[in-house]
Amino acid sequence: MVSGWLKKHVLTICAVLFLLLGWIAFERIDTPRGVATVPAIPSNTIIFPQLHKEHVLLKKVRSTEAYTAMAEVVQQQRKIQLALETPPTTLLKQKTDCLVQHCIALTFDDGPSKYTEQLLNILQERQAKATFFVLGVYVERFASVMKKMVYDGHQIGNHTWSHRNLTVLSPLEMSAEINQTNYVVQLVSGVIPSILRPPYGAINQEVLQTSNMPQILWSIDPNDWRQRDPSAVAAHIVSAAQRGDIVLLHDVYASSVEAVPAIVDGLRAKGLTFATIDELLPQKETTGVFYRQP
Ligand code: NI
Repeated sequence: MVSGWLKKHVLTICAVLFLLLGWIAFERIDTPRGVATVPAIPSNTIIFPQLHKEHVLLKKVRSTEAYTAMAEVVQQQRKIQLALETPPTTLLKQKTDCLVQHCIALTFDDGPSKYTEQLLNILQERQAKATFFVLGVYVERFASVMKKMVYDGHQIGNHTWSHRNLTVLSPLEMSAEINQTNYVVQLVSGVIPSILRPPYGAINQEVLQTSNMPQILWSIDPNDWRQRDPSAVAAHIVSAAQRGDIVLLHDVYASSVEAVPAIVDGLRAKGLTFATIDELLPQKETTGVFYRQP
């Protein structure tokens, strides 16, 4: 009875098994599919061995072309996720026109750190925008803070990977410090930094040529790394501030973050509006050096 049925349907069973095996084999190919054009990685890019969950995934892909393609897929997924998670529009998300408003830019260097989230909450509460010049080495550890920075409407700039003086590095080392930071920021937050603050403000012709990014310095420095008194830091900034200034702070000191409410309130009382660097300096050239709005 059973063998009769098997004989009758043997062809059908074979066909079904054949299709099933074919489908399993196809699904097991784990190279990225559907990516037609693949941009080349610049030869001076150094690829980060130790970072990221994705890197485990990316390590499986051996060629640089496939690596770039996979990174693009990851980046697209992040963009979609970011768009879904973005909260409703706040004042921070609105563009500030510095030709009309009297703008000032607050900038925070050397983070992200354990104080950065608290700082973001203060800025959100007071609806003030800022620019964060981050060190690549800390970006992964504070990935969710980096995402919040972008959601909240702040700008992210590059402060190199490990805070080395760029003027003493070889072009290859310099590129690694800069490109690796751009890459990890992009992977974590979905945006690529377009501005650079060289550590110690150290710039020479090689840095300008190699980085190919505008160098953003500062016009007000309250020395918050030495002066750990929040009210003194705030007083220095508020008394010095004028339209177009770029204020240097560091979100790696509790005292600097504590100073921010008084800084924001004091600058607003002087009629100043908070802008990102891109809003303050909309005309900046590719490789110029900027320390305030002209
Ligand atoms: Ni620094």
